[in-house]
Amino acid sequence: MHPDIPAFTRTLAEAAGELIRRERLAVQGLSTTYKGGAELVTHADLKADQFICDAIRERFPGHRILAEESAPTMQDLSAWQGPLWIIDPIDGTVNYAQGHFQSAVSIAYAEQGRVLCGVVCNPFVNETFHAVVGGGAWLNDSPIKVATKTQLRRAIVATGFPYIKGDMRPIVRRLALVLQECADIRRLGAASLDICWVAMGRLDGYYENLSLWDFAAAQLIAREAGARYGHFKPVPEGVSPEFHDQNILVANAALFPQLHDLLNRADAGGDS
Ligand code: IPD
Ligand code: CA
Ligand code: CA
Repeated sequence: MHPDIPAFTRTLAEAAGELIRRERLAVQGLSTTYKGGAELVTHADLKADQFICDAIRERFPGHRILAEESAPTMQDLSAWQGPLWIIDPIDGTVNYAQGHFQSAVSIAYAEQGRVLCGVVCNPFVNETFHAVVGGGAWLNDSPIKVATKTQLRRAIVATGFPYIKGDMRPIVRRLALVLQECADIRRLGAASLDICWVAMGRLDGYYENLSLWDFAAAQLIAREAGARYGHFKPVPEGVSPEFHDQNILVANAALFPQLHDLLNRADAGGDS
């Protein structure tokens, strides 16, 4: 990894964070539309996406970019071994448009299919989570660690739900069992922050189906904070576990297997 990348990524995520914060203050009513009829996108998502991609192209021409709004195609990605940037310009767009504070800019940098650097910046509360592989995880300038709870019945577990409503039965079954067996649940609305909150102990566990840009940066932050990051179903053959976006599970080493079993128990109890 080029030695400038960690500082460049943090500066860029914080500048994009400032852009989306200012944009929400400045604009009388954000301009919004719905991708695919169901997924909210604001003009600030597009503006931040372009700002981040332009800065990367200028500083590192030739690097590949996967960006939710301007370059979302995953084609050939598993075969790509070169430098790759993975960008969610606003994670938590619904919160953003509703005036909530739980939204973030997420930027990850990968080489040979492995994320080496990740930054998740929530500009509304001045919190930047960041990690470089092997260097620990940080919230602003302080190191962070995953929580030490060991009992499911004391655990606060977050999850999220898809915008496109397909078969909701498996989701509802998992939710019912988590609600039954854990202390409580949260649906905070920004997956990158959910995972960072597990990394720093504000949450004890998290599971969901996502897209790569939602979790690429945060999963590194979680692992560097000592969390166990993985999946509660087998990862299909030929798919990099680091890039697999379904059945994601994050918790500390004690709670991970318990949540893994619980979620599988929920699935075994239903007809799909
Ligand atoms: C969404 C958020 C949400 C999660 C959705 C994501 P977006 O990202 O992370 O928490 O439940 O699956 O799509 O659309 O706000 O970038
Ligand atoms: Ca997202
Ligand atoms: Ca987004």
